[in-house]
Amino acid sequence: MCGIVGYIGPKNSLPILLEGLKRLEYRGYDSAGVALSHGGKILIRKRTGKVAELKAEIEKSDGLPVVHLGMGHTRWATHGEPNDVNAHPHLDCKGNIAVIHNGIIENYLAIKTKLILEGHIFKSATDTEVLAHLIEAIYAKSSNLFTAVSAALREVQGTYGLVVLSTMEPDKMIAARMGSPLIIGVGDGESFVAADAAAIIEHTRQVVYLNDGEVAEVTAKGFQTKTIFDISVDKEVEEVTFDLSQIERGGYEHFMMKEINEQPETIRNAMRGRLLVEEGDVKLGGLQHVMDKLVYAQRFIIIGCGTSWHAGLVGEYLLEHIARVRTEVEYASEFRYRNPVITKNDVVFLISQSGETADTLAAMREAKSKGATVLGIVNVVGSTIARESQGGVYVHAGPEIGVASTKAFTSQLTTLALITLMIARAKGMPTQDGRVLAKELDSIPAKVSSVLKNLESVRSIAEEFKGARNFLFLGRGSNFPVALEGALKLKEISYIHAEGYPAAEMKHGPIALIDEHMPVVFVVPKDSIYEKVISNVQEVKARKGRIIAIANEDDTEISRMADHVIRVPRTYGFFGPIINVIPLQLLAYYIAVARGCNVDQPRNLAKSVTVE
Ligand code: G6P
Repeated sequence: MCGIVGYIGPKNSLPILLEGLKRLEYRGYDSAGVALSHGGKILIRKRTGKVAELKAEIEKSDGLPVVHLGMGHTRWATHGEPNDVNAHPHLDCKGNIAVIHNGIIENYLAIKTKLILEGHIFKSATDTEVLAHLIEAIYAKSSNLFTAVSAALREVQGTYGLVVLSTMEPDKMIAARMGSPLIIGVGDGESFVAADAAAIIEHTRQVVYLNDGEVAEVTAKGFQTKTIFDISVDKEVEEVTFDLSQIERGGYEHFMMKEINEQPETIRNAMRGRLLVEEGDVKLGGLQHVMDKLVYAQRFIIIGCGTSWHAGLVGEYLLEHIARVRTEVEYASEFRYRNPVITKNDVVFLISQSGETADTLAAMREAKSKGATVLGIVNVVGSTIARESQGGVYVHAGPEIGVASTKAFTSQLTTLALITLMIARAKGMPTQDGRVLAKELDSIPAKVSSVLKNLESVRSIAEEFKGARNFLFLGRGSNFPVALEGALKLKEISYIHAEGYPAAEMKHGPIALIDEHMPVVFVVPKDSIYEKVISNVQEVKARKGRIIAIANEDDTEISRMADHVIRVPRTYGFFGPIINVIPLQLLAYYIAVARGCNVDQPRNLAKSVTVE
């Protein structure tokens, strides 16, 4: 996600900030900026593009004076497209308070509306800017930056790692954390703040990890910490022992594993501020203006490629079953060349992690030219599909660096579940039923966390099957796309041939492949078609196939049939794919690692396919 670095001390801050931001580039970003506190003013330089471009621009213009207090930020857009104005830092009305922020402020609209009524003038479309104005409003009454920041954060819902500078108190930085990591670097007569140690490790290895709900006042001489409720906290200084490349991957061996492990958080981010559990409803700002279209649509068409297409297949089950709308799913590359029959009563959803996939983009333009309403379900904010569609929803998975998509997939599924619930309620689903589904969705991040505690069992299965030449993945209903995704993950990163099939289709061909060498992965949760899938399990067992089952924790029957069982918690059937895919991601990962493959950059594959 976004990067943060701050410095206070005797040295010139700008080179430290720019170097620190470069070290955070691996996190992915679309714009960069710095704020320097100098002579009673805050000097800001920010722009879209890379840190090197920001640096070149500063050098080309007047340069900047030697300044001993400053902070820098790399932004990965969440609210407001990537452009110079939306880049951080953000200022209050008078330009006295500057804020950089990682995370999402859920209730920013309510706060912004209130502040506009009080006369504050906003320049950007970001959620972050409300923090600068909110602190300004509170500081006007308290004249204490530390308490003003704490008070502002008590009004805020959401996640943040943030740093605040003010011309009124030019000898300090205020740093705070809720859900988005932030550390303080302790040097000799100098201090640092950073989103992770990579940014400051060449200056100090002595760091303090802030916990959620903590605020720190950082000066050149040291720091003091309190909670946002003004309770003092003693913090220990710890030594960073990781090297740089380990820090970049959050201590994991590969980005893919880091991203798999981020899923409880990224799924939560997709729902943040949108899922209204008590109301049993969903609010999606980017779809409000097309609610009539969604409610009265004759047909939904979901279009995507690769993993995004698999998400679309799950979406078909969700939308047809829960929202009762006729839904079709298409490969973007096929859709665009078959002169599809489209009317203005069709709503077309384009699913794309990157928002730049050439075929998906072309399919969107085709559908739009034929009069359909086109809506994006996209991860990268401000990407072409996001800009050219007539509305949509960002999935907020954060930058995905591993080529094989993992966290973007579960965020796409979560977003599709939200869209489904919103439409179902708008079409008359009773509050009570909506609440049951909303509660279930709300419980999914914790259930995904519990699957991620079970890594060892998946690893040992991977060890046993690393030499397999073929794999079959089977599932039914909304878990059929999960089987497809499991097979895709395995072939992408381990180069083992793998196929996904609807379990009942096995009899029409794949069954011929089954013998004692064939591993068959069944996704078999205890849902309405459990018994049917169990019959398919028996058919494989009778032919001596080696069965790996993804099954619910309370399924006692399955262990009598399967060679290996990976347990997953139960959920409402159509939300199951969000949880059930996790063991398949892990299985592919561990097999690929055991085979010595380049997990993050598999051969021949590209993260973003911008050619036909
Ligand atoms: C490539 C990537 C896949 C991705 C697909 C669609 O093939 O390697 O991981 O699923 O493109 O990309 P999109 O960005 O449109 O989701």
